[in-house]
Amino acid sequence: MDIRTQIGNVLFDTPIMNASGPSCTSKQELFNILFSESAAIVTKSCTLESRTGNDKPRYWHNNKLSINSMGLPNNGYKYYVDVLKHMSYFSRTKPYIMSIAGMNCKDNIEIINCINSTIHLEKVHFDVGIEINLSCPNIINKGQLAYDFSAMDFYLSKLFTECLHDKIKIIGIKLPPYFELHHFKIVADIIKKYPINFVTTINSIGNGLVIDIEKEAPVIAPKEGIGGIGGSVVKQTALSNVYNFSKQFIHTDIKIIGCGGVENGSDVFEYILAGAAAVQVGTQFYREGCHCFKRIRQELINLMKKKKYNEISEFYSKLYLNDVFDE
Ligand code: SIN
Repeated sequence: MDIRTQIGNVLFDTPIMNASGPSCTSKQELFNILFSESAAIVTKSCTLESRTGNDKPRYWHNNKLSINSMGLPNNGYKYYVDVLKHMSYFSRTKPYIMSIAGMNCKDNIEIINCINSTIHLEKVHFDVGIEINLSCPNIINKGQLAYDFSAMDFYLSKLFTECLHDKIKIIGIKLPPYFELHHFKIVADIIKKYPINFVTTINSIGNGLVIDIEKEAPVIAPKEGIGGIGGSVVKQTALSNVYNFSKQFIHTDIKIIGCGGVENGSDVFEYILAGAAAVQVGTQFYREGCHCFKRIRQELINLMKKKKYNEISEFYSKLYLNDVFDE
């Protein structure tokens, strides 16, 4: 059974990796992911300087959903570059994807240039990727750039003109969910202008509200209880975003990483059918810890065996390619 997948020239042993967000902020957490069955190590979105993030409580979940308004707490990008350098003393390797969320384009250019020169100067034997987070919904008084199409285009044009990224194997962007069908073409046409290898879709559905009826209050504190929604309730929106982007990217090399409500092997199967080359696990990883990667991988393999598939390419994007409603 071959469940390897590829994005750009980076090979992943399985299509299942952690999502940026839960349990990927500290060095210990990132080492736990290195030694787990996750296909890659995706870091917490990092900024130029460290951040403590929003007030607590800022995360809550039940068995259907999560809400967070973390506000990008992280140790600053240099910390994540140092973790990468430290990991390079170990023989074990897997793709290391740094999620970056600089407060402006200049910050992200500085971060990317530093990552690029570290790979160049140090003995880094990891395939290093970058996921540019353009969709955090939790920064007070700052909107999600990926909802402002002309600003996003301008931002990417400046970024790719000014940053050095020749040593970085793959670059992707993390998008928020879109809800209007014509938006997929607008966003895809912008993305196609730049050397972008993958799109991660979706970040949490921004600005939701979860209420505790005992306390008659929101379950989280920042932004009057408003935060990003994740977990199984967002899966259908995420699948549709994967599917709609996959149609836009069908004749390109741009790959899609599906994210949102992945809890078991059949979720992964659905995402791959819809056009995802890989998936990320967020809320379920937070609930279950690193064990989820092994369990979900085994469930995917069991399902593939039952359906007599030997490799992912046999059902990848099949929903579109075998459009059953075509007359
Ligand atoms: C956060 O730190 O607020 C979450 C990051 C994100 O949703 O992009």
